[in-house]
Amino acid sequence: MAESFLMNTGARIPSVGLGTWQIEHGAVSDAIYAAVKVGYRHIDSAVAYRNQKEVGLALKKLFEDGVVKRDDLFITSKLWPGNHAPEDVLEDIVTSLEDLQLDYLDLYLIHGPIRIKKGTMFIPENLIPTDIPATWGAMEKLYYSGKARAIGVSNFSCKKLEDLLAVAHVPPAVNQVECHPVWQQEKLRKLCHSTGVHLSAYSPLGSPGSPGYSGPSILSNPIVISIAEESQKTPAQVALRWGLQMGQSVLPKSANETRIKENFDIFDWSIPDDLMAKFSLINQVRLLKIEFAINPQSGYNTLEDLWDGEVDTGNKRTEPEDHSDFLRCFS
Ligand SMILES: NC(=O)c1ccc[n+]([C@@H]2O[C@H](COP(=O)([O-])OP(=O)(O)OC[C@H]3O[C@@H](n4cnc5c(N)ncnc54)[C@H](OP(=O)(O)O)[C@@H]3O)[C@@H](O)[C@H]2O)c1
Repeated sequence: MAESFLMNTGARIPSVGLGTWQIEHGAVSDAIYAAVKVGYRHIDSAVAYRNQKEVGLALKKLFEDGVVKRDDLFITSKLWPGNHAPEDVLEDIVTSLEDLQLDYLDLYLIHGPIRIKKGTMFIPENLIPTDIPATWGAMEKLYYSGKARAIGVSNFSCKKLEDLLAVAHVPPAVNQVECHPVWQQEKLRKLCHSTGVHLSAYSPLGSPGSPGYSGPSILSNPIVISIAEESQKTPAQVALRWGLQMGQSVLPKSANETRIKENFDIFDWSIPDDLMAKFSLINQVRLLKIEFAINPQSGYNTLEDLWDGEVDTGNKRTEPEDHSDFLRCFS
């Protein structure tokens, strides 16, 4: 069985999930089928990815073919930014459940601290300020109803997570954020660890070539390459394994069967401490800054506002971390 991490709900989140952003409609079914056959048990989805219906068809086929049962899988989806109003949150998850042909989600996330007017397109003109406490109240109702077995957030900085924890009756189980060797989220990881919020890493390979991403490559980073050579693994495997050893689940996207397999072959080996320490020498850059959210209508006037100062440190990490605590979370 694949390894997993304990969430604050008492349930476990698989440590590797298949990302589905930018998988073309015609390729979704094959990618999910191949991934589940290899052993993936977590599929990360969102209405924003515009392929949820195809994800649902792929899941239906897996169940009909007897490859897995619903309860074997962990399915995540996310609240559309136009449906933050408390009265719209239930309808939003119902739409996702219909698309996915499921009765419940294992994890439902506020996709980000970014909101647009209801029924409008995701463009800067439609941005409006968030009211996270109000939206979270409606998320909590979904949790109590059982439609979402865990609720969480995505793209939340330390400050935004702390603000939410201060008002939440149900604490978020997960904060899904950009995290990889080039943006290691040291401060956020420490906060998540101390507050019992699981950090789940999106774009764990740096989302090469994706719109909105800019900055150095992970897979051609000389330190990552040297660790991969010493470990006799690929740079992608080393980047993903680094994530697991830091205590986070990782969500690599691939539509290619060979790479889907490669990205899951990260369990029966580990990066030794001396090589783990080398990741601290990598310059830190947030690759997805979401500049379009900087607009007077959103309430974010600068990137500093959106990320509460957690943009680029321009610094190398200085001290190697002790990850022994996180390793205890492994099953
Ligand atoms: N919550 C959020 O706001 C948010 C934001 C971004 C992403 N996400 C989630 O996180 C998932 C993963 O992030 P991502 O899609 O941005 O990027 P990623 O997983 O870091 O990178 C995906 C890219 O890497 C390639 N790739 C995959 N495996 C590889 C390997 N072994 N060697 C070389 N290249 C490889 C893929 O190409 P092929 O397909 O051709 O293999 C694809 O171009 C998303 O799909 C989505 O589910 C969430």
